[in-house]
Amino acid sequence: MPHQHPLLSYIEYYFYYYPIFLLMMVILVWPCLHFFIKKVSKPTIKMPPGPYPYPIIGNILELLSHKPYESLFHLSKTYGPIMTLKFGTLTAIVISSPEIAKEALTKHDLAFSNRQVLHITTALGHNKVSMVWSPVCDHWRTLRKLCSTNIFSPQRLESTSKLRNKKVQELVNFVGTCSTKGEAIDIGNVVFITIMNSLSNTLFSMDLAHYYGASDDDHHGSQNFKELIEGILDDAGKINVVDLFPILSFLDPQGLRGRCEESFKRLLEVFNDIFEERMRLKVLSSDKSSFGGTFYDVLDCFLDLPKVYESSELSRHHLLHLFLDLFIAGLETTTSTVEWAMAELVHNPKKMAKAKEELLQILGRDENPKESDISKLPYLEAIVKETFRLHTPIPILFHKSNFNVEINGFKVPKHAEVLVNLWAIGRNSSIWSNPNSFVPERFQEWKMDTKDNNFDLELEEECVLQFHWYIE
Ligand SMILES: *[C@@H]1O[C@H](CO)[C@@H](O)[C@H](O)[C@H]1NC(C)=O
Repeated sequence: MPHQHPLLSYIEYYFYYYPIFLLMMVILVWPCLHFFIKKVSKPTIKMPPGPYPYPIIGNILELLSHKPYESLFHLSKTYGPIMTLKFGTLTAIVISSPEIAKEALTKHDLAFSNRQVLHITTALGHNKVSMVWSPVCDHWRTLRKLCSTNIFSPQRLESTSKLRNKKVQELVNFVGTCSTKGEAIDIGNVVFITIMNSLSNTLFSMDLAHYYGASDDDHHGSQNFKELIEGILDDAGKINVVDLFPILSFLDPQGLRGRCEESFKRLLEVFNDIFEERMRLKVLSSDKSSFGGTFYDVLDCFLDLPKVYESSELSRHHLLHLFLDLFIAGLETTTSTVEWAMAELVHNPKKMAKAKEELLQILGRDENPKESDISKLPYLEAIVKETFRLHTPIPILFHKSNFNVEINGFKVPKHAEVLVNLWAIGRNSSIWSNPNSFVPERFQEWKMDTKDNNFDLELEEECVLQFHWYIE
């Protein structure tokens, strides 16, 4: 056996041991290097504190014991008014103090201008054309402008108020009939129908549902409309696994998106039929000028806009989806608020008596309450505000951060979901005395106070009024 050249053996040795050598170097040197880099580079900003996330599921378990906003409120007692939570692949920053919410939503409004798109809103591509869900862009601005000039401007509201007054009168009559007959009424149900019809009359001068007890069977189709909307609201209130694990979106494990798609489709069909019918009437009335084809509603306004249904920027498609948004958002917030306000008043007979007295004093026995009377009823207004505080119709605001920002000294990374827990702000004992009791008087006293304190409520009002669903 010939003796091996020493150089060869050296090379062999080197190649054999080199990987191990390298590994050892990495193990020994890397921590030192890491430490050094950290020292030299400027101090990094920390993420807000939060509970330790489990692998894969993150902090989902922390949410399961109560309602999500309640669980988050309890967590914020430990981790403070701004905290980090992990849900699946999402990083969520939860804000539960008015000061930090204000900083986030006013100072950094650009970073948080977009809302987190919930999976169910992607049904039929709704999120792409919706005024509520689509990102800030040209057609979004056009839609907003269209709404503020054609639906929510004082003149428009004034001119459509007759339509709504009529609906309120119908409600008063229905309640009157029930009370003389001694029948119980389902407040949630009648309010739902009243608001739905006020909206549909404002938009296209027609009723979509009738009070139960009125002539029953022939309105089956219109009650369907109500069920469709209720179904969507129901599904929207559920926690969707796909929102936490976007990877699963093609599976749609709870079937929420599929169901929504079906309901959206049917609602859009209803709107489309109304649209078609109106176009037909318009053509008819322009042929014979005497034909009464003028409605003083929103749909008429839209159709009179120059070429609104042909322009590429804003098509009929957009309008139909806008109607969808208006119905869903308008019904969700208002119905629950009225239901809660009545529930609280039933539990507080003294406050109920006070409210009744105010109504009697200001309106007398006048059978026709008008929208303009609302400003003369400060106690009623305080009741509404107090109901918003205790039973926030939208307990959590969802935003998405468009880039890295610093809030209250903490880092909020790009793409994080930013949740403002309005429910927690409403129940925080360092902001409100006796936070869990229903005391409308606190808002009457506040009137004299500095404007500053009003922020919490402004925030809540903002969430409701953000879209100006103020069809009262
Ligand atoms: C209550 O509000 C205060 C002041 O905004 C805030 O510092 C505190 O963290 C809040 N508490 C909870 C539990 O959110």
